[in-house]
Amino acid sequence: MTASPTTKQAEISAEIAELADDRSGAQPRLDYPPYRSSRLRHPGQPPVPVDPELVELHSPVFGVQDVDPLEADLTIAHRGEPLGERIVLSGRLLDTDGRPLAGQLVEIWQANASGRYAHQRDQHPAPLDPNFTGNGRCLTGPDGSYRFVTIKPGPYPWRNHHNAWRPAHIHFSLFGRVFAERLVTQMYFPGDPLFGLDPIYQSITDPAARELLVARYDHDLTEPEWATGYRWDIVLGPGAGTPTEARP
Ligand SMILES: [Fe+2]
Repeated sequence: MTASPTTKQAEISAEIAELADDRSGAQPRLDYPPYRSSRLRHPGQPPVPVDPELVELHSPVFGVQDVDPLEADLTIAHRGEPLGERIVLSGRLLDTDGRPLAGQLVEIWQANASGRYAHQRDQHPAPLDPNFTGNGRCLTGPDGSYRFVTIKPGPYPWRNHHNAWRPAHIHFSLFGRVFAERLVTQMYFPGDPLFGLDPIYQSITDPAARELLVARYDHDLTEPEWATGYRWDIVLGPGAGTPTEARP
């Protein structure tokens, strides 16, 4: 069960299929053997419930002066335009009762159009883009909405097993109103052919729940001659919230 580059996709897919009937919850399974590198990084015992301490009932608050609106456009951080498919990505941040969460910090990071992160640990042979760093942030508006302009990231290889590829995704981080609402997750694009093969996406074994992580194409967000639009809403809070990132 250790990470092995010789493990074949067929073996991982068989393990995914074996666990696919588990309907135990809408969140990623922490104990999910097909995601090899998580084997030693998840709790071996059930969590012990504790009352939140006072510090956990608060969260950092970011004011309008902390975040420049230009930080929501990932395509203007350098001298030239990044390569790739320009997209508008927007949605609303809501609580579990459907109420908008205003003034919340939304942070994203992602690979470039070739599937390469501008990070020293990503050394796979796809080109870096001198005009794309791949991180941005914004504050939600009064109606809980956020909006980014970026490029669609490419899929990239990882070493979970031989020939393992991640579906294209954008990482999201939200602090929430209290630390207990902290959410780090990944957003995906509709129709990705790698969904069925990816142990991170499949670690949410409830199909309806994992679909909550897939944005939908929205022609009303698409701007003529300029960018296609994707919409993705996020629900913060206990219970029916957006699934978190599949990591211990
Ligand atoms: Fe990633």
